[in-house]
This record gives sequence, C-alpha cells and structure tokens, in this order.
Amino acid sequence: MSEHATPEVTNSAPIATIASLAAHEGERVTLRGWLYNIRSSGKLLFPTFRDGTGTIQGIVPKAAVPPEVFDRIKSLTQESSVIVTGKVRADSRAPSGFELDVDNVEIVHLVPTDTPFPITPKEHGTDFLMEHRHLWVRTPRQSAILRVRATIMRAAQEYFDTHGFIRTDPPILTPAACEGTSTLFELDYFGDPAFLTQSGQLYIEATALALGKVYSFGPTFRAEKSKTRRHLTEFWMIEPEVAFMDLEGDMQLAEAFLTHIVTTVLAHHRADLKVIGRDIAKLEAVIAPSRDDAVAIATAEPTTPGNEVVILSGAKNPRISPEAPPTSPHTNSVILSGARSAESKDPEASCVATTPSTIPPANRFPRLSYDEAHTMLERAFAEGKLEAPHIYGDDFGSPDETYISSQFDKPVMIHRYPAAFKAFYMQPDPDDPTKALCVDVLAPEGYGEIIGGSQRIDSYELLRARIEEHNLPLAAFEWYLDLRRYGSVPHAGFGMGIERAVAWICGLDHVRETIPFARTLNRIYP
Ligand code: 4AD
Ligand code: MG
Repeated sequence: MSEHATPEVTNSAPIATIASLAAHEGERVTLRGWLYNIRSSGKLLFPTFRDGTGTIQGIVPKAAVPPEVFDRIKSLTQESSVIVTGKVRADSRAPSGFELDVDNVEIVHLVPTDTPFPITPKEHGTDFLMEHRHLWVRTPRQSAILRVRATIMRAAQEYFDTHGFIRTDPPILTPAACEGTSTLFELDYFGDPAFLTQSGQLYIEATALALGKVYSFGPTFRAEKSKTRRHLTEFWMIEPEVAFMDLEGDMQLAEAFLTHIVTTVLAHHRADLKVIGRDIAKLEAVIAPSRDDAVAIATAEPTTPGNEVVILSGAKNPRISPEAPPTSPHTNSVILSGARSAESKDPEASCVATTPSTIPPANRFPRLSYDEAHTMLERAFAEGKLEAPHIYGDDFGSPDETYISSQFDKPVMIHRYPAAFKAFYMQPDPDDPTKALCVDVLAPEGYGEIIGGSQRIDSYELLRARIEEHNLPLAAFEWYLDLRRYGSVPHAGFGMGIERAVAWICGLDHVRETIPFARTLNRIYP
C-alpha cells in the first residue's frame, strides 16, 4: 500500500499509480482516479482512467466480468471518481506502454448525467477553457504541463542549492519600484502607498553582500496593461545574485543553470512532453555539446569562405585577446564575443568561489552583443526576411527576437544593450558607457526573452545620479544606496520567469497554460 493510501480498500491488489505501472507488469493492481473517457464496441468497453500521474486505457470484455460490474463501468460518466482493479499488461501501442485488464470498478462519486463534466475531449474555445481552469487542469495535456512546471521549479532551485547559493526571500510588499514605475500594483499600506514586488533583486543585492551567493524564488507582480502571449500580471521569478561576479560570470551562470533545467526535464518527462506534443529533438539540441562556431556561422556574410578567422566582438573589445586559446576543438579560429579563455568556462571563475566547483563543463550558448544582433537584423531586413527594419538604439521587437533565435538551436544571449532603455541599476560598459553590462537570454524557436540580468552599478555617486535621472524617490532607495556606502563590490545576477521557461520547454504559444491559475489583464477568475 502506498504511504498515503485510503485504508479501507476492499480487495487485495496493491495500490499503484499509473506512472509506476512498469514495476507491476503482469500483476493485479488497484488504481484510484477518475474516468477520463469511455468507448464501447458491443461486448467490449474501453474506459480510460487518469490518476494525476498519467492515463491508462482499460479493457473490459463482457464475458470477463460479472454483469453488474460490466453495467457499472458502462454507466460511468466523465470525471466520475473510481477505484479500479485490474491486471497490468504491457502493450507497445499504448501511450503509457501498458493497458489494464479491468476486473472491478468501485464508484466513489458518479457525476450525474444531467450535470455532465463541462470539458469533453472535443475542442473548446480558449475563453471557455480559462473560465473552467479549475476543471481544465484535469485534462491530460494540462496535467502534463503542470508536472513539467513543477520539475522546472525544482531543478531551478536544485541548481542553486547544490552550488553554494543561500535562498533568501525578499518581501512582497515594497515601498518602491524595481523595474519601472509603469507596471506597479499599488496598495494602501495602513495609509501609506506600497507596491507589490516586481522583482526581488534589490533585496537580494543586500543579502548577496551579506552571504556571497544568494537566490530568491517567489511570486512577482506587474500591472501589464497589454494583452500579449508572454505577459502575466502575477508570475514566479527565480533570481540569483552573486557578490564579486561580473557580466561574464552572470552569462556563464545562466548557461549552466538552463542546461541543468533542460537536462532534468528530459530525464524525467519524456512521456509528458509527448502528451504535450513537444518536439523533443529541439530540447536535446539545447543540451548537446556546443558548437562554439554557431555565432560565426549565423552572422557570417554569405560570401565569407568557410574556414577564415572570424573575430566577432573581440575586434571591438580590447579586453578580448585574439590570441585567447581556442574554446573547443571545432573552433581553432573563431573567437566568440565575450569568450576570454578556456578557464573562463567555469562559472565559478568570475565569482567568489565560496564552495568547491561542481559545475559540469559549461554548455556554451551563442552570444551576440546588441550591436551584432542589430547587424544581423539589418541584413535580414535587406534580404527580405524581416518586414520592418530594426532601428539602432531601439529595443528588439518580438519579430526581431524571433528572427535572432531562429538562427540558433540553443538559447541566445544578447548582451550590452543601450543603457537608455534598460533599468536604472545596470553598470555601464566601461568600453562604451552608452551600453549597459546586461544580458537577455532569448529562448530558441521564437519563445522570446526568458532571462534578464546584469552587472549592477557599484558606485555610490553613479547609482544616486541614476535614481535621480529616473525620477525615483531617493528616500525610498536610501537603504539600497547603503549597499554602495559600506563595502561596495561588483556584483551581478539575473531573473528567470518560470512561466516563460515553461512556455518554451513545453512548446506553448501562450503563457496562460504555464501556471495553474493565470492572472492577466482581463482575468482574475477562477
Ligand atoms: O527582465 P526582467 O524585468 O528583469 C528583472 O526583473 C531583474 N530585476 C531580474 C534580475 O536581474 N534579478 O524580468 C526577468 C524575467 C524576464 O526575462 C521574464 O522571463 C520574466 O522575468 N518576466 C515575466 N514573465 C511573465 N510575465 C511578465 N509580465 C514578465 N515580466 C518579466
Ligand atoms: Mg527583461
């Protein structure tokens, strides 16, 4: 009997879950769940059951069970709750690999025929489904997405927990903005204005200076007044912050972190990804050994002969020596933007190593500076691959991001955006102070930005000036300025929105299916 079993199960077959049936092949088991669907063909019934871990098709030949059992199964309505016993039989055609030769069904609750379960296996409109989200979550695809979401959250925390990061939870009720004042949810805090947090970052900068390597994980809120496929008003963000880490270290951390998440999902959820309809090969490509020449291939002029020396931002960035050792056997002659040396592949190398490094060899993601990405878009527009030109100095639009990500099979890291449209706290690039030392990670296949991060301003004077330039209330940021008054150090971090990651990993075109109960501009029910 399983740990959480109902004691009074009336027969002797052990309780099992659908996901664990491989361990019970050829045995009689008891499953507890719900009827998902039933088909009949004369003297045969094919009920499909679900139990939260998966679905399984049962087979009930009329001659094999007592007449009252046959009639009881035949009377089952969708989502009636049941306790089923039967023998597990391997069947390679079945999605779960098994079928159940049902010998008995006890009804726990029969859904009355005059109030049937509203979501039938046929197609329904999105509004109808969202209105019935509390029931929609029972359907196989939605359940599979929620299981993958849980694993993404677990793997994300696991990465930080096993690499010396201390979880520190920032407040949700805050006195000031972190990510711009236009998306604040304001509330009345005993007569004073307060806001729901947009990001834990400012607070974990404080705990990073206390503990070295920290992360936060919790709900965040943005009053997004537009309806897009990627924006929720309430979403979950996981954010690491590391003292003595620079932008390079931040990007390496993002690579290792995302690699761990995708690896973990592939290790545990192939069946779920299949139910969802995800092209698994696309995820395998994300964790496959890197081609360090991916950027060179994607950005090369069509006329460039194959094996020439290609120096990307290395040419513009005097800190990157063209003599740097090759980063992989593929690329003797290619220098990636930001690539410094073979050792710099270790995410610990650019931050304080507070624990011995156990980070596996980094999976390199392609990197492009904002300028390089702009050049790529200019060429795409000239070749008629983009409808509108990208204006230098503007942020990328979603067609731009889709085009850039379509050039690679791994997430792309775009760094050094113009500071003008980025957050007030970002450290300027010493080589070009109009740029910020920041990075956006774009998911492959056009799923857009999943991670935003940066090195933070560590100078008191500069940070104070930026707060004033952004018309932010200085008094509310005095504590944040204290972090630059007392032992300021270079530090960096990023935030990943869980729902964006789920949308990408599950291959969903809208974030509303990535969270149990989505909150958007026009929905706060159920
Ligand atoms: O790029 P953002 O705004 O960065 C920050 O909040 C930083 N303070 C994070 C940090 O450096 N610690 O948001 C980070 C991520 C985005 O890349 C995206 O994945 C997600 O949060 N995100 C949203 N997800 C769903 N709905 C929204 N409205 C989101 N806004 C941001
Ligand atoms: Mg962002």
